[in-house]
Amino acid sequence: MEAIVYEEFGGPGVLRHTTGVAVPEPGPGEVRVKVAAVGVNPVDWKRRYGWVEEFYPTTFPAVPGLEFAGTVHGLGEGVTGLAVGDEVLGWTKTGAYAEYAVAGIVAPKPAGLSWEAAASLPVAGETARRVLDLIGVRAGETLFLHGAAGVVGSVGVQLAVAAGITVVGSASEANHAYLRGLGAIPVTYGEGLADRVRAAAPDGVDAVFDAAGHGVLPVAIELLGGEGAARKGRIATIADVEAEKYGIAFSGVVGDPDAVRAGLTAHARQAAEGTLAVRLADTLPLKEAARAQELSESGHVRGKLVLIP
Ligand SMILES: NC(=O)c1ccc[n+]([C@@H]2O[C@H](COP(=O)([O-])OP(=O)(O)OC[C@H]3O[C@@H](n4cnc5c(N)ncnc54)[C@H](OP(=O)(O)O)[C@@H]3O)[C@@H](O)[C@H]2O)c1
Repeated sequence: MEAIVYEEFGGPGVLRHTTGVAVPEPGPGEVRVKVAAVGVNPVDWKRRYGWVEEFYPTTFPAVPGLEFAGTVHGLGEGVTGLAVGDEVLGWTKTGAYAEYAVAGIVAPKPAGLSWEAAASLPVAGETARRVLDLIGVRAGETLFLHGAAGVVGSVGVQLAVAAGITVVGSASEANHAYLRGLGAIPVTYGEGLADRVRAAAPDGVDAVFDAAGHGVLPVAIELLGGEGAARKGRIATIADVEAEKYGIAFSGVVGDPDAVRAGLTAHARQAAEGTLAVRLADTLPLKEAARAQELSESGHVRGKLVLIP
């Protein structure tokens, strides 16, 4: 089958397009999917560099890609409630940058939701939900979301705003109108960020979701009352590997599969109804995976990059 593979850690040049990979077989409880669209994530190139082995140990040859939308093509032992031909979205264990992939967690793709939109939801939806739950932010509170216009950040904004939370979100100015459209109060990141957040939220910030990294944790601590403040438990990052140094939670482990499946089903339904959306930055053929990862690594893609096998 067609796939992108790499056999050593390194830059985009280690990615190779091939048609010589064996079609993967689903194990018990798993399904094989014919992939229609693949979501590109920053973790794809972080894994390719060998930076996240602690969370995602690599076996070579490796096929990148965590999330997909596609059609059920084969059923493993004991799978119920799914049939060959069903349209689904989900998480793969064998790598989504491929013609076929094996998945453990899938949800039905509502008719009317495009393949590209469906493939953009799994990682961002799960991550945003997990972090909002971890920091316990609730209706009536104010959240500072760093990197609010990124794919994860923008889903976090939408879920939080829908739950009655006031969101101050940082982004470059080109993304401020987009954030306003999602219901957030935009601020520009960089020097003076804490003052701009305080001006945007004069009654204070209750919780911080760092979805971008770039050294924002000292600002987050300052906003919640300074070093040693009990409220430090209300800050979480998904992108700053120095979190532990500050006594802040790094959230990097995908939740319980049943909860992830339920969340994915709900997010797909909301996306089909038009109440949750991920911006589509570009669609590229699978062969251009290296270019897609280079674009992702630039850090300012405006929305999701999607690959089509
Ligand atoms: N731990 C986990 O479970 C988990 C899960 C998913 C993602 N992640 C990580 O979360 C991060 C975001 O992922 P994503 O898919 O949302 O990526 P993305 O769509 O590429 O978004 C990245 C965002 O970072 C912002 N940014 C770039 N430079 C910045 C700076 N110097 N200061 C502040 N913000 C800056 C960009 O904002 P502008 O474009 O407005 O400049 C952009 O919106 C990545 O590091 C990814 O690896 C972690």
